[in-house]
Amino acid sequence: MTFDFSSSIDRSGTGSLKWNKYAGKDILPFWVADMDFRSPPCIEEALRARVDHGLFGYTVPYKSAEDSVIDYMRDAHGLEIQREWIVWMPGLVPALNTASRAFESPGDGVLTFTPVYPPFLTAPEWQDKELIALPLKLDDGRYTFDWEKMEAAVKPNTRLLLLCNPHNPVGRVFSREELEQLVDFSERHDLILVSDEIHCDLILEPELKHHSILSFGERAVKRSLTLMAPSKTYNIPGLSTSFIIIPNPRLRMRFQRASRGMITEINCFGYVGCEAAYRGGEAWRKELIEVLRRNRDRLYAFVAERMPRVKMVPMEATYLAWLDVRDLGLDKPAAWFESHGIGLSDGALFGTPGFVRFNFGCPSEWMEKGLQRLGAAYDAIE
Ligand SMILES: Cc1ncc(COP(=O)(O)O)c(C=O)c1O
Repeated sequence: MTFDFSSSIDRSGTGSLKWNKYAGKDILPFWVADMDFRSPPCIEEALRARVDHGLFGYTVPYKSAEDSVIDYMRDAHGLEIQREWIVWMPGLVPALNTASRAFESPGDGVLTFTPVYPPFLTAPEWQDKELIALPLKLDDGRYTFDWEKMEAAVKPNTRLLLLCNPHNPVGRVFSREELEQLVDFSERHDLILVSDEIHCDLILEPELKHHSILSFGERAVKRSLTLMAPSKTYNIPGLSTSFIIIPNPRLRMRFQRASRGMITEINCFGYVGCEAAYRGGEAWRKELIEVLRRNRDRLYAFVAERMPRVKMVPMEATYLAWLDVRDLGLDKPAAWFESHGIGLSDGALFGTPGFVRFNFGCPSEWMEKGLQRLGAAYDAIE
């Protein structure tokens, strides 16, 4: 390994959301999607150089940062995007909320699929929209869309479809066929497709490929918003920098109008981190994928051997494992694990009680401690 994926760095005193939750308690955090790895050296160097400049004024999108996004989307994903399609934002959670606000009248519907990253469920509600949250279908141990239920649930006033691709928390990299069918569905029901692709550079299965919604031709492109950020892959969510690709000028204008006055310039360091990641982070990302694959496989093996009543679905992407703990008969599974010293995310927040999410984006030393506690919590169940 060229890069450091093994140091366990003390994050206390840095305001870490992940670690602060359990400050002063003997609970190890394996919850929020934030890894415990130091970011790529190219990002540290670029940020240091920006600090040395000494001027930190209001910063608007600038050419080299935009170019890095355009080049990255072309080189890594084969997508030709245009400069004016890019809308920068301090996060994708504000983007999900802005999208839910921008395209509909109060009471109109937003369709999404559970389990899902919780802001997909809260954004429509917070923006006074009707939420249609349909369960993904578990087909032979693999989650996929339930076409029959979707056709039955969609209504004339459903305007938006929120897609997580690759999917957090079930770890699916949806196939070209599944997504083609989803585009057909969106076209037939005249839905705007909001595709959150923040995890697209974290595919763990070498034979799988990310299919961006932007790769499905004009009929998909013109009705789409693609949500992207370097934050998950390069572990820089604290730089609060993401971008939305909106090719259709009418949709782009409505989206920008809906956030007017509430979202202004992003942090000057965010552009620097993004550009450095996209220009120089690839070697680091490749090693990261190896480390994550090893951690995922270790977790599979542990769950299979030590926790036979728990099921872990195959994780094709992300560093977030989705564990089915329904057989354990726990009322509040995450609370049970917390009381045994391990902080997980509860499935109820994702619209699916009876599951927990385990973040394995951490050095092996933390991982082993986490597994020990997971096993002890399991053994303590009557
Ligand atoms: C699917 C998905 N979208 C968005 C986010 C958060 O994005 P941001 O930090 O840009 O608001 C996460 C974080 O876990 C996520 O998993």
